[in-house]
Amino acid sequence: MNMIQRPRRLRISAGMRDLVRETELSPRDFVYPIFVVPGEHIKEEIPSMPGCFHYSVDNVAELARLVASCGIPAVEVFGLPAYKDEIGSSAWDPASPVQWAIAAIKEAVPELLVVGDVCLCQYTSHGHCGELHGRYVDNDATLPHLVQTAISQARAGADIVAPSDMMDGRVAAIRAGLDAEGFVNTSIMSYAVKYASAYYGPFRDAADSAPSFGDRRQYQMDPANVREALKEAQLDCDEGADIIMVKPALAYLDVVRRVYDTTDRPIAVYNVSGEYAMVKAAAANGWIDEQRIVLESLTSMKRAGATIIITYHALDAAAWLNE
Ligand code: PBG
Ligand code: ZN
Repeated sequence: MNMIQRPRRLRISAGMRDLVRETELSPRDFVYPIFVVPGEHIKEEIPSMPGCFHYSVDNVAELARLVASCGIPAVEVFGLPAYKDEIGSSAWDPASPVQWAIAAIKEAVPELLVVGDVCLCQYTSHGHCGELHGRYVDNDATLPHLVQTAISQARAGADIVAPSDMMDGRVAAIRAGLDAEGFVNTSIMSYAVKYASAYYGPFRDAADSAPSFGDRRQYQMDPANVREALKEAQLDCDEGADIIMVKPALAYLDVVRRVYDTTDRPIAVYNVSGEYAMVKAAAANGWIDEQRIVLESLTSMKRAGATIIITYHALDAAAWLNE
């Protein structure tokens, strides 16, 4: 039968499909998040995030070598501190696990990029991302703490600092603070578009960072909004963000595309803990094909416009892609 267009012609063989593929996922796209804790000889699985572990600092060099050997260019370091207080001062303590871990990774594998997560919720006694005034998370009082945290991570050797707190004006404050200390080549990856999401649940267990009262809706974004995402992205670009992040990933791919279309910065997405836990749980039950689900989901993030994918699947996905 005569038919001028037959889209199936380009799907007829693996070779043809390879030839016309528009989006290619690679281990080079990934950032692997790691959780560091006080103590020694610790590698403990996180119950709600099977396959992810709490590591003590003495174990991170080995992990860093493994990550790099898979072709993954970066890790992002989260930490549980030895102590918490009202203002989260262990976030910028040079002796906290995050700062030690950053230094240990850079020493073991200098070419592996290290991202420091800049926030206070793991470090405050109340679990909010900033300093409190009553029940109000005080934006302007929090900024100097974030700046100090970013500088302490840069000093430890972080290549990139990633503020995830959602205070207004923090990118400008951090840029000015880093520059004043001479860290002009430390990049800022801003969690510019971060929604108040239920998908962070497993992370808050892992990082012991759930708020002790209320929720984060006075600072994180309403999941119903997308035009507001463009505003947040624009503001952070104007303040000097080098990379713009959208978080979570899968339920927000329309947002990723809208931000991609309106900014000149590389886009990162955070494939968050709840997205990971859902896949692991379904896979453990034999209900889905984990490998195919993961690679399909990560590919969709890239197709939507992400250049960088922060994902707990990074080690597995890289191994599958390298097969
Ligand atoms: C801290 C922070 C959170 C995540 C990354 N940094 C949790 C939160 O905002 O409560 C979530 C990551 C994940 O769920 O994987 N501000
Ligand atoms: Zn926080």
